[in-house]
Amino acid sequence: MITTKGLTKRFDGTLAVDALSFEVREGEVLGLLGPNGAGKTTTIRMLAGLIAPSRGAATVCGHEIGRDGAALRGRVGLLTEAPGLWGSLSAKQNLEIYARLYDVEKVGAQVEKYLRLLELWDRRNDATGTFSKGMKQKLALARALVHEPKVLFLDEPTSGLDPQMAKLVRDFIETLHGQGRTILVTTHNLDEAQRLCDRVAVIRTRLVAIDDPKMLHARLFQRGTLVRLKQVEARFVEAAGALEFVSEVRLAGEELHVALENPDENNAALVRRLVEVGADVVYVTSKEPSLEEVYLKLMQEEDEA
Ligand SMILES: Nc1ncnc2c1ncn2[C@@H]1O[C@H](COP(=O)(O)OP(=O)(O)O)[C@@H](O)[C@H]1O
Ligand SMILES: [Mg+2]
Repeated sequence: MITTKGLTKRFDGTLAVDALSFEVREGEVLGLLGPNGAGKTTTIRMLAGLIAPSRGAATVCGHEIGRDGAALRGRVGLLTEAPGLWGSLSAKQNLEIYARLYDVEKVGAQVEKYLRLLELWDRRNDATGTFSKGMKQKLALARALVHEPKVLFLDEPTSGLDPQMAKLVRDFIETLHGQGRTILVTTHNLDEAQRLCDRVAVIRTRLVAIDDPKMLHARLFQRGTLVRLKQVEARFVEAAGALEFVSEVRLAGEELHVALENPDENNAALVRRLVEVGADVVYVTSKEPSLEEVYLKLMQEEDEA
């Protein structure tokens, strides 16, 4: 549904996006992750036909970007970082203007559909300038959808929202996924990416990695064991580290974070050894790496390379 080949954007002196090549399959939710300034917004703006690439190419819904801008923009929905609504106009008026711009056939019906779906119908006649950030974001989502695009670009859809509103927006994105729409979503929230996305592309100007979030884990992290001790002493850390199946021991407060092969088999021996050298074990749990850790590790590998 979306294919990019060597997509590159340079602003004066700044290389914002460098030779990005990836694909988003039909019906897939692809998460675009990266630190501030990584080029996420620039990528989305190129793919939505708002700015031209400096080099490289991309097709979206069969349209080549930079060729047929008007047709492309009609086929995609875009949620930008700042909603940019007309504050003195009502929610309904804001949507109607967009629906007409997009040549929507049944403007009234489409506007009503999305105002209801996003629970804004009761406030339809209020000026959007009076709306909370969350309500504005919902209206911006309605606006991105009013012409029923197959492809959606969502730039940080939950950033700055309170947890309840963020969940509502996330659930809504899941509904859109269920309808078979193709979605490219940027986020800082790695936990969110893990929940929403079929695959995650980590970018920092260049593409750093692209994979199933679970595969990214498997690639970069062993499952570990967390052992909480009553009191940590250097010899406990040494004893654990000396076990042949242990690859790394990190200390965090009174907790040992132990990277080891096959924890199901080896945890018992690990605990036995710790007790032998005099440690008081308070509890033992398995430690799943978060995408946050995967992400930091990828960035670190990049820096070292
Ligand atoms: N219109 C612009 N003019 C000049 N530089 C820009 C412009 N837009 C973005 N940049 C630069 O391009 C880089 C990528 O920005 P952006 O795509 O907004 O990153 P992200 O969305 O991942 O935070 C940054 O260094 C940013 O300062
Ligand atoms: Mg951005």
